[in-house]
Amino acid sequence: MTGTSTTGAGAAGRPDGILNAGLLAGLSPAALAEEFGTPFFVYDLDMVGRRVEALRAILPRGFRIAFAVKANPSLAVLAHLRRCGVGADVASGGELETVLRAGFEPASIAMTGPGKRDQELAAAVAAGIGFITVESPGELRRLEAVAAKAGRRQPILLRLAVSEDARLETVRIIGGVEGKFGMPLQTLIETARAAAGSQHVELLGIHAFGASNVRDAEQLAAHVSELVDVGRRVAAETGTPLRLVDAGGGLGIPYSDGERSLDLARLGRRLGELRVRWDSDGDLRQVELVLEPGRFLVGPAGAYVARVVDVKGPDSAPVAILDGGINHLLRPALIQSEHRLAVLAPDGLRAMVRTTVAGPLCTGLDVFTTDAMLPRPRVGDLIAAMDTGAYGFTESMPFFLSHPTAAEVAVHHGRAQLIRPRIMPVEWLDRQLNPDW
Ligand SMILES: Cc1ncc(COP(=O)(O)O)c(C=O)c1O
Repeated sequence: MTGTSTTGAGAAGRPDGILNAGLLAGLSPAALAEEFGTPFFVYDLDMVGRRVEALRAILPRGFRIAFAVKANPSLAVLAHLRRCGVGADVASGGELETVLRAGFEPASIAMTGPGKRDQELAAAVAAGIGFITVESPGELRRLEAVAAKAGRRQPILLRLAVSEDARLETVRIIGGVEGKFGMPLQTLIETARAAAGSQHVELLGIHAFGASNVRDAEQLAAHVSELVDVGRRVAAETGTPLRLVDAGGGLGIPYSDGERSLDLARLGRRLGELRVRWDSDGDLRQVELVLEPGRFLVGPAGAYVARVVDVKGPDSAPVAILDGGINHLLRPALIQSEHRLAVLAPDGLRAMVRTTVAGPLCTGLDVFTTDAMLPRPRVGDLIAAMDTGAYGFTESMPFFLSHPTAAEVAVHHGRAQLIRPRIMPVEWLDRQLNPDW
């Protein structure tokens, strides 16, 4: 585990980080806590904009970005991403409703994900979204029926299953095996033939998500290259032109001080080389590429801030208990990946000690770290978990132990605004029913 004080290197020392010189998105953490209470997530929208620009700047002609909403479905964050000019990738009817409310053009919306229900498909078709990624032959049949009923011809991609090895970040697309996501190559080709002959869908190309949190530019580019090759083969076998390939997300970020960032310039060079190759190939010259990054665009632009409620144990190895834990930030427990922690603005000089930081839940899983080197914490301190703009609020377990949820705050041009108020347990208590048996 890496920990840091706001006066040390670490999180505070990253020039592109949300925490700089003791300030969060340029604002005093104490003032934010005073105004919004704790715990809260804070997002730096200006940094999100810079990350969009940095990625867009390295992409060659014909590439576009669709933000993976699952990474951060907060309305104000999405509205900002829309203003930054990216599209959206949604995985449910709820996410679709959110991006429509955030003002995304329907044509800039994609829908991808297993288990789409008929009413979700119908909502997507009715909204006229850019494309739906079909995950199975059965889903294609259901979508055809839905589109026929709506009197529309829905643009689609077919999702290729990726081998388990690829999910473990070796990125060999071999058509995969039957599993939860997408279709093995042979099934995909048969489904593509059915789609090519359908009046109710328009087959544009294929989709595959390679692996999560990849910080290796070569690996990401290899995934894109291999996927386009598979798409070309599918197009040849079905006699339809390949117009669109969606290579999913997976652009990684460092979570600990020792980890390298993704080399964007290198990724740009590799993708540029691919573009040159496709441009000299009549079958691929027109092909468009979609990337669906989530984590990369918003992860480093968010922090989760909680207050120390109790400190116990010896001075040399204290245990700090916060007013929020895995009920708000499940990721450390879910995938055993810790976030860098920072004690925000500790007063005076404090010894750096090996510290355990835990939340208030009655489970041993609710521990952020057992060995962070931090300035010795005191009751009332604020502690931030860094890089929590993606898969933070959205991937939590808010109902466990009936604590309030974390609030969400966004900072734009130096101004902090509440974007999702804390929900108090009484609010969902009020929605419960207690039958009079
Ligand atoms: C289909 C699809 N696209 C995009 C993403 C976003 O991935 P990331 O946030 O790692 O970029 C995911 C993540 O699970 C996904 O399943």
